[in-house]
Amino acid sequence: MPSKSPHELLEAATAVAANAYAPYSHFCVGAALETTDGMIFSGCNVENASYGLTICAERNAIFAMVAAGQTGIAQLAIVVDSESAAWPYPCGACRQVINQFAEPDCPIYVAPSRQLDAFETMTLGELLPKSFKF
Ligand code: THU
Repeated sequence: MPSKSPHELLEAATAVAANAYAPYSHFCVGAALETTDGMIFSGCNVENASYGLTICAERNAIFAMVAAGQTGIAQLAIVVDSESAAWPYPCGACRQVINQFAEPDCPIYVAPSRQLDAFETMTLGELLPKSFKF
């Protein structure tokens, strides 16, 4: 059963954002998820000189979860540490990957690190309606 508060996940996402490798965008993202078994996994974005090889924080957190033998996401937090005013809403590719391992009612919390208390909550179903699933 999920046990973490949104704030605990947002703090974990903030911590891992410090390790983001983002020399091109300077948009340092951290993602932290709690599995349906109550385990926490996190990831940061890793950019590359060949821009298209960049991997988002969300997918790195999810792939760490799968490598540890877990396949169910109960809740997910995404935080950006950046000068940019942009919020780290998950990109389309990440929404589809989240969808592989989460139910439509899965809560997703999003915030800039400077405004953690102003975090927005949305569900996966809101972000990816009528999703494709085998
Ligand atoms: N990025 C993420 O890691 N997650 C998001 O939710 C949005 C975008 C990364 C990809 C790239 O390294 C940088 O942010 C700018 O797009």
